Amino acid sequence: MSKMLEKARKYEDEQGKQIKAEDRPAFHVSPYVGWMNDPNGFSYYQGEYHLFYQYNPYDTHWDSMHWGHVVSKDLLHWEYLPAALAPDEDYDKMGCFSGSAIELDDGRQLLMYTAVDHETLEDGSKRDIQTQAVAVGDGRDYVKYEKNPVLTEKDLPEGASKVDFRDPKIWKGKDGNFYCVIGSRPADGSGQILLYRSANGFDWEFVSILAENKKRFGKMWECPDFYEVDGKHVLVVSPMAMMPEGLKFHVGHSVIYLTGTYDKETHKFVREDVQPLDSGIDFYAPQSMQTPDGRRVMIAWMQAWPNSKFVPDGVKYFGQMTLPREINYRNGKLIQQPVREIENYRGEYVHYENVEISDETVLNGVDGRVLDMTVKLKVTDAFKKFTIKLAADETYDSTITYDPVREVLSLDRSRSGYMYDILHKRDIQVKPAGGEVTLRILMDRFSVEIFINDGSQTATMVLFTPQEADNISFAADGKAKISVEKYTLTF
Ligand code: FRU
Repeated sequence: MSKMLEKARKYEDEQGKQIKAEDRPAFHVSPYVGWMNDPNGFSYYQGEYHLFYQYNPYDTHWDSMHWGHVVSKDLLHWEYLPAALAPDEDYDKMGCFSGSAIELDDGRQLLMYTAVDHETLEDGSKRDIQTQAVAVGDGRDYVKYEKNPVLTEKDLPEGASKVDFRDPKIWKGKDGNFYCVIGSRPADGSGQILLYRSANGFDWEFVSILAENKKRFGKMWECPDFYEVDGKHVLVVSPMAMMPEGLKFHVGHSVIYLTGTYDKETHKFVREDVQPLDSGIDFYAPQSMQTPDGRRVMIAWMQAWPNSKFVPDGVKYFGQMTLPREINYRNGKLIQQPVREIENYRGEYVHYENVEISDETVLNGVDGRVLDMTVKLKVTDAFKKFTIKLAADETYDSTITYDPVREVLSLDRSRSGYMYDILHKRDIQVKPAGGEVTLRILMDRFSVEIFINDGSQTATMVLFTPQEADNISFAADGKAKISVEKYTLTF
């Protein structure tokens, strides 16, 4: 093991255990200590779910990318393992960036990641060079391949940049070969996704430019994921520098999914539709895997790059993952649901049918910060606005508001205790389904994930509200009818 990895493992072991369990989310992954961004290597290997993450153990800010590592039997209880990778080779000294994991034919686990190095230009300035590298291991310790990097500048199609060439997502094809998709920047400065193939996981060849954005839907496309679900091909990407389009796509770093078909002859993805993947505030760089029972499950970084510069005072770790979500394709859309394992942690249950809401109302037993609650709102013209207040007391609250005239759902966490003037509000176009808007709200100590209308849309945000603020209330401008089902979640 390199000195650098040994140092990281020693440091996290000493520091990580000092963070109290109650200062972490109850069922969302957080870094052992320091900083976390993208999920990496989300996979199932030898009886366990593995999740790696972009990790800087030494600080609550992005720097010196290592890979952190957790494992789980049920996608909800995660156990910390020692850091898996450190930027300890000449070719990755500027960081082990995002990548993925898969089991090799001989039973070893392969990690494929972006190795970042830098070069000095004639004027003395430096710039990053990105290549792809692999490491193999037993689910605990990994050895980087002696012939790394395995994909370099010479494997790029004409005009593609060696500065932006990152985030390999690997899978095994039906033909027995390994494939991966990688984000790339073509000569016009837009984004494209490259497809590569390998018989053994070590020797890779360029296959095709799978998809190009031609400057629509952002510029550089980061963290691609490509899979088939319910007979549909889906390409998920995290574009940088998106232009807004109405309430559908917001400005800046975003996550979108493209549905379409895959042409086996040309190895091109033929796009049919493009949708946002999560319309909340904190969601980026998702990655998915297939569970042994055949479900497509996705997890994302529950943060946004611009907000992540503002770390609350005094915290020892920063960054969380979303809840793993089951993905299906129905009626032209991806449907997201919390993994069904969450139902095993449901405790105390309260239930209200057809309650009329006008002035601010508290429902007995409907409170808390770690819960699974479904609110069904009948959409009528008897009210102009309906609001749910969460994580509330006299000082704090975060709100979800529905306007039935504009058909807009609004999030507002400006009073959540986040002390910085960052993005706190988002408006989302939400059409009623069967005359109702259904909101399944999963709350953990530091987050809210909303599954709208059976998961056909989602909205995610983190909260740094003190845990004592645990009231929930409902109010309407006019008269609204709701049903509420609430489970406390106990871990
Ligand atoms: C996306 C990203 C990836 C990169 C990683 C670096 O959030 O920028 O493209 O591999 O983060 O930490």
